Amino acid sequence: GQPRGQVRPGSSGAAVQRAPQAAGPEEAGEDAEVSTRKKTFAEVQTERLEQAERTVLIKCPPKLNEKKLLQYLSSHGNIKSHFFFENRGIHALIEFSEKNSIASLQDAIGLPSAAEYHVVPFKSRLFTFMLKNPVSQAAEETPLHLSPQSHIPVKELIEKLCHADSISSQMYILLNEYQLTDENIKLRYLVCSLVRDFARAYFPDSTVKPFGSSVNTFGKLGCDVDMFLDFHDTQKHAAKTKKGPFDMEYQMKRLPSERLATQKILSVVGDCLDNFGPGCVSVQKILNARCPLVKFSHQPTGFQCDLSVSNSIAIKSSELLYIYGCLDSRVRALVFSVRCWARVHGLTNSIPGTWITNFSLTMMVMFFLQRRSPPIIPTLDQLKELADVLLGDFFEYYGNFDFRRNSINLRKGKEVNKPESSPLYIWNPFEQDLNISKNVNQPQLEKFVAMARESAWILRKEQKAQQMTNKEPWGLAALLIPFGKSNSNKMKNRMKGIGSETIRNLLDSLKLNNPTNLQKAVGK
Ligand code: GTP
Ligand code: MG
Repeated sequence: GQPRGQVRPGSSGAAVQRAPQAAGPEEAGEDAEVSTRKKTFAEVQTERLEQAERTVLIKCPPKLNEKKLLQYLSSHGNIKSHFFFENRGIHALIEFSEKNSIASLQDAIGLPSAAEYHVVPFKSRLFTFMLKNPVSQAAEETPLHLSPQSHIPVKELIEKLCHADSISSQMYILLNEYQLTDENIKLRYLVCSLVRDFARAYFPDSTVKPFGSSVNTFGKLGCDVDMFLDFHDTQKHAAKTKKGPFDMEYQMKRLPSERLATQKILSVVGDCLDNFGPGCVSVQKILNARCPLVKFSHQPTGFQCDLSVSNSIAIKSSELLYIYGCLDSRVRALVFSVRCWARVHGLTNSIPGTWITNFSLTMMVMFFLQRRSPPIIPTLDQLKELADVLLGDFFEYYGNFDFRRNSINLRKGKEVNKPESSPLYIWNPFEQDLNISKNVNQPQLEKFVAMARESAWILRKEQKAQQMTNKEPWGLAALLIPFGKSNSNKMKNRMKGIGSETIRNLLDSLKLNNPTNLQKAVGK
């Protein structure tokens, strides 16, 4: 029942493939995902948001010369990536290598003429590219590759599925047809980044981040963009350790409830998008809902967007699903298939109502996967343990390993009696009568055990907050300083005056129940 793939410790949980593309049917076997480089949810978000800030969206004429457009833009900086797509005309997403290229471009381009309409002079990152002489320039046009932003119709999907050779490959075909593409994900982050530009008119420290199916690995092409306004970066200020006799804080408007503050913030940002946001239409403020939000449609990208204010539960839910989606490739294949089945049979609907939501349906699939024997995904409690204590557990495990009697056998996955007296015995998994650690002598093994015990003890102390304040190394950092040096006094003290309290703690931390072992643990 161990999860496949790594789970990395820390606030941001776990781990994922570089691009949220699923393994195809041919890679769906054992270890396709395990071997690829994994990224945490927070890493992906940070990287994508930063990328979005270097990105612009350009509406293009129906026919143009791709190379010339890129040449024209390149005078403002290197273009890192780009693609074209069709949505009420042709659009180009252009990602520059440097953020300052955008300022340079913005400086160079003109305002629309105000002859017919009066324009609101808000300078965003949405532009229109025009040919000055369409007739002669049209001659230079080249065929554009358009990246699809919607999935194929169900009818077409059914045909494709019929050609597959197993139900399992049918599920992966569905997944590959429906899942978000890298391009589509870029567009989603870009929309968040464009909304952020408006939010910053009021709150310069705010960010806008996507959550829900745009980021939890279960989004299908065409799903809405759930985004929230985040002020957490501002809370860095609050966390600053305050030393010295003085203290200063901002004067801020105080409101009787968080809900009221949320409503007021969303109200002004909603108005701003409605009045001044290029391409933002059908803006609806739904401030009396359980979770107040602003709905709008973003025309240039075609996304339906829901903007709310930072909601830690929803973010954690997205991250949890993200972790589950990355642990085993079968998870996403099953969720996509079940979601598609439910939609076809009218069990779910894109409009809210009394039916099961996609979110609930996904949770039902997760529960099913936890209840399999053996389980395909771990429970949240197990994940928490895995994320928090794996390193400490490693040291405790080998700090307490009965090396005198037992050997390590990876083939059986068990501790087995030592076949001979080498201090450390690790069976060669492929040549069962060979010990791969035959060279290790008793003093070296004892040193390993002593270091493992000391490290388990340090990790157990949990003085992170205090040590961070004192700018002392903590956790893994503390383990990487030779114990004889910085810790020598502490170590000596520990050896000298071991009171009953200390012994109880040690017993606790080392899970020792044998006093001779304890002596070995501390007596050297
Ligand atoms: P689709 O948009 O249907 O693809 O899925 P989604 O997961 O994005 O669902 P939705 O847009 O309805 O909601 C966005 C996110 O809000 C979800 O992923 C959840 O994190 C959260 N959410 C939605 N409904 C509920 C709910 O009833 N309870 C809780 N706790 N969170 C919810
Ligand atoms: Mg959604």
